Amino acid sequence: MLFSDFDKIVLTAFMVSLARQFTDIPYAKELAQLIETQRLVELPQQQNKGTNVLLTARVEARYKAINQVMAQYQITQILELASGLLPRGLFISSNPNITFIESDLPTMIHCKQRLVEQIIGERPNLHFLEIDATSRPSQFLKSAKQLKAGQPVMILCEGLLTHLNVAEKQLVCANVREMLEFYGGVWITPDFIDTASLMQSLQDNPDLQKLLQTGTNITGRSLIDNNFATLDQARQFADEQDFCVVEHSMLNVIDQLSCLEILGIDTEMVRKMIARASVFALTLDAA
Ligand SMILES: C[S@@+](CC[C@H](N)C(=O)[O-])C[C@H]1O[C@@H](n2cnc3c(N)ncnc32)[C@H](O)[C@@H]1O
Repeated sequence: MLFSDFDKIVLTAFMVSLARQFTDIPYAKELAQLIETQRLVELPQQQNKGTNVLLTARVEARYKAINQVMAQYQITQILELASGLLPRGLFISSNPNITFIESDLPTMIHCKQRLVEQIIGERPNLHFLEIDATSRPSQFLKSAKQLKAGQPVMILCEGLLTHLNVAEKQLVCANVREMLEFYGGVWITPDFIDTASLMQSLQDNPDLQKLLQTGTNITGRSLIDNNFATLDQARQFADEQDFCVVEHSMLNVIDQLSCLEILGIDTEMVRKMIARASVFALTLDAA
């Protein structure tokens, strides 16, 4: 295989899923409880409380910021890449008019399907597909069976591109572009992150530094090296990949972060952490 060891990234899905249980995100607790009671994972190292609260705040912010951007589009077919243990599909597919396709690497998506079925059973509009988002030729076409041609698709991913190097990110972009060329629609992701802003917040926050180090230790991939040096470089990359981008600040959801109260987190610290983070809505044509 040209690009290997994605399997180590799988572990991070468990890490963020356990962090999400300290939020009011529907089904987050149920999924985390199944992971814990069935002992599905043993994470290599215990984090401290400080890093855990930051992780929870970040994953809640990105989840809710994506939901807020999704609500601006009237699109009823959704393809989520690298779904991991995200609960979005369980929640959204309660609307039978929506087709929701969850996808991830084989081991992860099979585990997810098993867990979801233990919580809500099977639903005719909730699907699970093995898709390596970087594969060329594209594996996204596996979703053609569930998607209606002539109707736009909403593609989502969170916490995938951040672990990929530039060449791998380009492959994902090519696959997304192909889908949007065929169906039309939008790609919504918070994954175009710049390390400059992270480094800035790192300077006065040792817990964030530890958190990034944990991610790097688990995946064997540097969260600093694999992301953009500046926000302008992230924008330029998206532009070079032929996308038109609209940015939505994560601060738009700061008032919705339930973990602040649940875990007693200082709002100002979180505000600082997400101040320059945004969700990108990428399309092939300017809206
Ligand atoms: C940090 S986790 C994020 C999971 C989920 N999106 C979330 O926010 O909870 C990264 C996910 O990327 C998946 N992944 C890693 N490499 C992948 C690839 N090449 N194609 C698709 N998924 C991949 C992993 O299996 C894992 O579920």
